[in-house]
Amino acid sequence: MKVSLIADKDYPIGEVSPRLFGSFIEHLGRAVYGGVYEPGHPTADDQGFRQDVLALVKELGVPIVRYPGGNFVSGYRWQDGTGPRSLRPRRQELAWNSIETNEVGIDEFQEWARRAGSEVMMAVNLGTGTAEDARDLVEYCNFPGGTALSDRRRSNGFEQPFGIRTWCLGNEMDGPWQMGHRTAEEYGRIACEAAKMMKMADPEIELIACGSSSSSMPTFGEWETTVLKNCYDQVDYLSLHSYYGNRSDNSAEFLACSRDMDKFITDVSAICDAVKAIRHSPKTMYLSFDEWNVWFHSNEQDKKIEKWTVAPPLLEDIYTFEDALVAGCLLITLIRHCDRVKIACLAQLVNVIAPIMTETGGRAWAQTIFHPFRDASRFARGTALDCRLDCPSYDGGAYGETPAVEAAAVVSGNELTVLAVNRSLTEDGELTLDLRGFGTPELVEHRQLWHEDLKAVNTADQPENVAPSAGDGHTLRRHSWNVLRYRLA
Ligand code: AHR
Repeated sequence: MKVSLIADKDYPIGEVSPRLFGSFIEHLGRAVYGGVYEPGHPTADDQGFRQDVLALVKELGVPIVRYPGGNFVSGYRWQDGTGPRSLRPRRQELAWNSIETNEVGIDEFQEWARRAGSEVMMAVNLGTGTAEDARDLVEYCNFPGGTALSDRRRSNGFEQPFGIRTWCLGNEMDGPWQMGHRTAEEYGRIACEAAKMMKMADPEIELIACGSSSSSMPTFGEWETTVLKNCYDQVDYLSLHSYYGNRSDNSAEFLACSRDMDKFITDVSAICDAVKAIRHSPKTMYLSFDEWNVWFHSNEQDKKIEKWTVAPPLLEDIYTFEDALVAGCLLITLIRHCDRVKIACLAQLVNVIAPIMTETGGRAWAQTIFHPFRDASRFARGTALDCRLDCPSYDGGAYGETPAVEAAAVVSGNELTVLAVNRSLTEDGELTLDLRGFGTPELVEHRQLWHEDLKAVNTADQPENVAPSAGDGHTLRRHSWNVLRYRLA
């Protein structure tokens, strides 16, 4: 199969924000307890954070981490997780039917994020919580001192303000499963009022309003329009969430699912621009794709997990090689929309639908999806180019006619990187590059992720079963992820 890619120096899409490579940690399952935090673990540091996990997070390169939920945040009392641990309440956690000990809260998590080299993207509770709770949290986190809330932070051991810049106004408020689920009108109003008060408390922050939980929500479209009509001037981003799964064991169709993400972003951008026009606003609404991933492997086993326990093993998807190819296609799609999508979070980071897995008390390892994420986070920061790709296409089932190859090109200084997934299950691709205006680029590295078996996984015993290897510089092997790095003259 012939694959030709044209990229021209003079035709950029835009800057790839480093925050496109964000992730997410929720108080859910073993993400926090047994994941990032495990005081008795042999690698635990002075704060009980697992250093084996921290090392993998740093290798992944995650500049921003959304916290503490997710569905969890819609019933969360943030005060529960502050102050002396012995006084923190244990609570029934209604989103995931678990017991929350509150051993880790905002204070500890921002310290973990600092050690991981990430910034925190804080979500506030607009389910059972009020606009006042939300502005109180901003004051607790970001006000220097001399007020009751900021002094409480200081007396809890954090003299300096946390300086949390980016805040989510609730989570998936369009979903009937959400505690405190609201209509678009109701949510638009509380988002507007919470946003006003939060920005009064700290004018430097930026805010994300909830969009739809997926493009298949019955309210999709109407929800975005109504919410934005209520809070367009007060917020800076609108969120999108999407999860995919190979439920009918049709790999060719599954590999095409990034077409849905592509359309979702295009549709939401159009809605934002329609509201912008109606409001005669000069402001462009940017997008935060703050939950994306493959999620389906654990659906059945989760039904059998005992309720009301601490840190049950929920949402522990073991990712296959084909999931990594899908993650690669989704990353390329986000990069191609970098002019609009300024933040994105792989959901989630550790144990819960995650690139990093741990044994409680034992080993930590990289799942298959770790590899395309790490590669993109490392090598695709810069200016994305508006590429023209010529390759065969195939019938992607529910996702329609789909190109056999998904690709993006990013230039940074004297380095140009091409990311490409060959979706073909049978044919290698012969790549020809036409890099216009770049002189004669020299190939530095061709990394590929390939395995004969689409269902291959990594485990604690075989953590390198699916791992990158060197390519020949021009062949995009059938069903493979590729990173081609060039030095520009
Ligand atoms: O990431 C798992 C869950 O998926 C989150 O809690 C929720 O926001 C979404 O439905």
